[in-house]
Order: sequence, then structure tokens, then C-alpha cells
Amino acid sequence: MSPLVSDLHLYDIANVKGVAADISHCNTPSQVRDFTGAAELANCLKGVDVVVIPAGVPRKPGMTRDDLFNINAGIVRDLVSAVADNCPGAFIHIISNPVNSTVPIAAEVLKQKGVYDPKKLFGVTTLDVVRANTFVAQRKNLKLIDVDVPVVGGHAGITILPLLSKTKPSASFTGEEIEELTVRIQNAGTEVVEAKAGAGSATLSMAYAAARFVESSLRALDGDGDVYECSFVQSDLTELPFFASRVKLGRKGVEALIPSDLQGLTEYEQKALEALKPELKASIEKGIAFAQKQT
Ligand code: LMR
Repeated sequence: MSPLVSDLHLYDIANVKGVAADISHCNTPSQVRDFTGAAELANCLKGVDVVVIPAGVPRKPGMTRDDLFNINAGIVRDLVSAVADNCPGAFIHIISNPVNSTVPIAAEVLKQKGVYDPKKLFGVTTLDVVRANTFVAQRKNLKLIDVDVPVVGGHAGITILPLLSKTKPSASFTGEEIEELTVRIQNAGTEVVEAKAGAGSATLSMAYAAARFVESSLRALDGDGDVYECSFVQSDLTELPFFASRVKLGRKGVEALIPSDLQGLTEYEQKALEALKPELKASIEKGIAFAQKQT
């Protein structure tokens, strides 16, 4: 629906034609084209500015996102390799889980191809922000449209850290509310997986969140100088090589990280930040090791 989308290329290993026919009937200016199977992947990617990768298998109840690693890691590796060959200058949005590992895999593949631009590789964590905004607005009876909660760290379990103290407009929370909201935001993906009872994980709210992140990227590419989103990116805000935080987006991708976002944290947030680091570090290293093993 975004007027900033001129062409929409849809790719999958099967069943793309129907989706493309369906979506092409929307009365928007964008041209929709479909591409099926590996033989058509290169043509799908040529000339594109933003690539969104939601491919792979979803969780079933009882699984963690890391349980998807064995299948999704190879899928992301192969798709990013095609991106490197056909549209190396594009923004790459990774949705495929485990994001904490698939983003480092993508970075390694791009490095191996000599086209890694850390400013253009993004793990999509927008759904964590969307959820945090929704739950906080409900709990505090705030007008949802105004609420903005930064979420930092990664995109799995305790690595998802909502910074409730930095909620805008400023709101005060009891210790009990902080604990309850933090745990709900961290487990929100699992909440959907359990409700779907074996039929997959979040798709509609994820699509909504991904559309928001794409729209923000397109606005930035279009020259809007006031675009900020949380994303899992290469980062020097902590000792970890990748970290989700608020980033300023520009024509060339990440224009700036916002170090002040990690300053002045509450004791609860500071402890949670330290607690998430070992898990996030292990997931990042697992992704890097996987990609390096392939060469
Ligand atoms: C989500 O947060 O909903 C996605 O990462 C999918 C999942 O497995 O939870």
C-alpha cells in the first residue's frame, strides 16, 4: 500500500504466482512480479533497493527460535549469497529466525563475497517494539498512537530487553508491572506459537511490523532525515559485535547508533542487560561459526 514502493518482486520456492496475482489487484501504483525457484532468484533480485527475507520454517510449541537454526541457517546463507551477487547495495532485512544467529550468518556471507556493508544489514526486531507499545498502552491506559518503547538486545527470550524507563510519553511503573510487562514482551512470540498450537508462529503482526520497517527504510532512502527504528545491527554500543538498539536511518543505511539510549538505565534494566549478553554472544558466535565452516 505504500506509495514509496514502485516494484514488488515476490520470490519463493513454490506457490508465488497466486500470491502475486492476488496482491497485484490492490489499487496501488506498484508493479508486482513473481519469481519461482532458484533459477529465477537472480532476476528477482536485480535492481532492487530493499530485500526482505522472512523465509524458513516457523516454531512449534515447545521449540525455541534456536531450534530452527539447522534448517533456517542454510536458507538464509543461500539467499544472502544471491543478494551479494545480484544487488549488493540493497538494504537487507532479515526476519528468518533465529535472528540472533541469521544476521551474523548474513554478515559473514557478505564478507566472503567482498560486499559487506554493515550499515545495510538489519535484523528486524520491530515486532518487539510493536508488542511493547501495545502491552504498555493497554497496561497504563495510554493512547496507543503516542506510545514508544525502545527494545534492545536481540530477538529471542531474555535477549529481548524492553527499556520501559525510556517509554515515551514518560510513564511510571511499579516493580511488579516492570516484571510482568518485560516477561510478556519477551515471551510474546511464544504466546502466538502456543495459541496457534502447531500451525506456526506470528505472521500477521510480523508482516505489520516488517511493513513498518520497510516503510521506514524507504523513507530514509527517499531522503527523510528523521527516521529512527530499533534494529539488530552491527554495533559498538556494547562489547557484542551485534546488538539491537534504536538506529537513525539514512540514504546509506544506519546513519548513527544512539549511545545515550543505553545510558541512565534502571538497576533492573542494567541487570537484565548483563544477563542477556552470554546468550546473545553464544547465538552470534554460532552463526559466525556456521558461515565460516562453509568456506
Ligand atoms: C516472533 O517474535 O513472533 C517471531 O520471531 C516468531 C517466533 O518464533 O516467535
